[in-house]
Amino acid sequence: MTIASSRRLAILEAATRLFEHYGHGKTTIADVAREAQIGVGTVYLEFESKEAIVQELSRSTHVAVLEAMRADALVVQGLAAGGHSATFDPSRDPADIETVDLVRSVTAATDLPAIAGGGVDGPAAVAGLLEAGASAVSVGTLLLRTEESGASQLHKDALADPRFEETALTRAFTGRPARSLRNEFVDRHDREAPTGYPEVHLMTREFRVAAAKQGDRESVHLWAGTGYRNAAVEPAGALVRRLAGVD
Ligand SMILES: Cc1cc2nc3c(=O)[nH]c(=O)nc-3n(C[C@H](O)[C@H](O)[C@H](O)COP(=O)(O)O)c2cc1C
Repeated sequence: MTIASSRRLAILEAATRLFEHYGHGKTTIADVAREAQIGVGTVYLEFESKEAIVQELSRSTHVAVLEAMRADALVVQGLAAGGHSATFDPSRDPADIETVDLVRSVTAATDLPAIAGGGVDGPAAVAGLLEAGASAVSVGTLLLRTEESGASQLHKDALADPRFEETALTRAFTGRPARSLRNEFVDRHDREAPTGYPEVHLMTREFRVAAAKQGDRESVHLWAGTGYRNAAVEPAGALVRRLAGVD
């Protein structure tokens, strides 16, 4: 299964820009698609040669919007997820609700298949999400230290370093809510960080790139979901089999 992530980011960014500009309700999916220069269809999953349109959400109130956009499936992302939060409105934090509860409320509101993710830290979490009604489970953070991962060595090492005791949801790095290991950059800038993607991202990028080159892990984004302590160095296939309860 492959995800055309650049297309997905293009549509999410276009949607964010348009919603920020014109507000909800005044923007149609056709506007978003035009802005992103792609057809109506946002996230494409190729599975057994069939293309599907998938949209990511972090609130059950998005279900009606996404059904109207003729999504084939929904990625249901909980607050515990690593990296950027799926939200049409970056000035609001994602709903403070456990992923498993979000899955229950989304699957009660729609028959669309739900792909659940956010904070998965092992096979029990996967089983819990499937039991709550998810059709599939997605993981991000647990893959970051696998042998196939393209994450930087700095990022991989930080995930396993006891120096980092927790994660934080912050706009400090990019101007959109995103979950990172809590480092000095977060402590220094989180409180006054404005909403403003991509401006904040572009403003801090050069600094973060330079810091990464110097191996300064206190000044770079270290995306991580709450399950980061269980991210291990192993083949990705072995991880997925274990999560699925096959091994
Ligand atoms: C390194 C990293 C980068 C991510 N970047 C984005 C992003 O740019 N946009 C987005 O919607 N989700 C992003 N995510 C979130 C994932 O799509 C997914 O929801 C998340 O990884 C699932 O939670 P988990 O990390 O706790 O497994 C990112 C996740 C990681 C780990």
